[in-house]
Amino acid sequence: MFEADDFIPSKYTNSIDKGNFSWSAPSNIALVKYWGKKENQIPANPSVSFTLNNCKTITALAFTKKQNDGNFSFDLLFEGKPKEDFKPKIQKFLERVEVYLPFLKDYHFTIDTQNTFPHSSGIASSASGMAALAINFMSLEKALNPEMTEDYFISKASFLARLGSGSACRSVKGQVVVWGNQASIKGSTDLYGVEYPYEIHPVFKNFQDTILLVDKGEKQVSSTVGHDLMHNHPFAERRFAQAHENLDKLIPVFKNGDLDEFIKIVESEALTLHAMMMTSQPYFILMKPNTLQIINAIWKFRNDTKIPVCFTLDAGANVHVLYPNSVKEKVLQFIQAELVGYCQNGQYLCDEIGNGALLG
Ligand code: PMV
Repeated sequence: MFEADDFIPSKYTNSIDKGNFSWSAPSNIALVKYWGKKENQIPANPSVSFTLNNCKTITALAFTKKQNDGNFSFDLLFEGKPKEDFKPKIQKFLERVEVYLPFLKDYHFTIDTQNTFPHSSGIASSASGMAALAINFMSLEKALNPEMTEDYFISKASFLARLGSGSACRSVKGQVVVWGNQASIKGSTDLYGVEYPYEIHPVFKNFQDTILLVDKGEKQVSSTVGHDLMHNHPFAERRFAQAHENLDKLIPVFKNGDLDEFIKIVESEALTLHAMMMTSQPYFILMKPNTLQIINAIWKFRNDTKIPVCFTLDAGANVHVLYPNSVKEKVLQFIQAELVGYCQNGQYLCDEIGNGALLG
């Protein structure tokens, strides 16, 4: 396990004038939710997520050596075109990670980024975007210091991604990723995401996530504001404890594939996340009427058919429908027949569990 100071490099052994890398990083969907943080993007509770496969950000990073004049220098392209409004977020990220990547002011960077999912679909691109950028910077650091181990490379990429956007640290490597210190999970840490280290039942292999786009509008509450609302929240301490309990309960579920128990934990986590927002001051309702229609339709379908399908939610109105690969056809038929009508312009995205970031 690494400490934050381990990620402050000593002298680099190589020098490099210019080059480029390209990495894709996927989005992820939390089963136990991260909601509430301390200073420096330290989570108030541990979380666990499935890494997705199809919803990803592809980022190319080109770099040329420049005079270190004390400033960061970068161009930002989104889908091939300059995108000024993304720059402040990147600037802030560079400031936060500079101590860990001391070469940043020695280069001019061109960051060229695109998503595989529709822009403003209501799917956050911050997790995949920050993970893709962080891992590109790690490729450059590895070129400067080829001795670096694979473990260091991956852990530090996740550590840097966390400083960009908390949940991004769960988008670097592994199918099931834990972020946050949990006594029962070996190697888990608040500083970066780690691959879930214990047995996972085959029922979770190729587990499906169909994302129903209920509302593609701008987020009502940014996650920064949302996390802040957990400070002095009347139920915060109990909620943080519950996240630890739910993560512990998932350990035997991952092992024995008990989907009834899985569903109870996952749906409760989603509703608790929204309950926290409904009970904060100020309070928010991020679900839309169609979110509730979908939840009720899933419950009825599950009750009628005994097919183990469930939902989870992020901090918005869209619904992630989770189910094993073995019932894919039946669930997709159900989605097309009964749920698509609740989606904005009938839009949904089919995804499944994936492995993390890829070079090239
Ligand atoms: O990574 P952030 O700061 O955007 O927070 C995301 C939090 C949730 O998506 C709501 C839950 C989670 O654990 O991903």
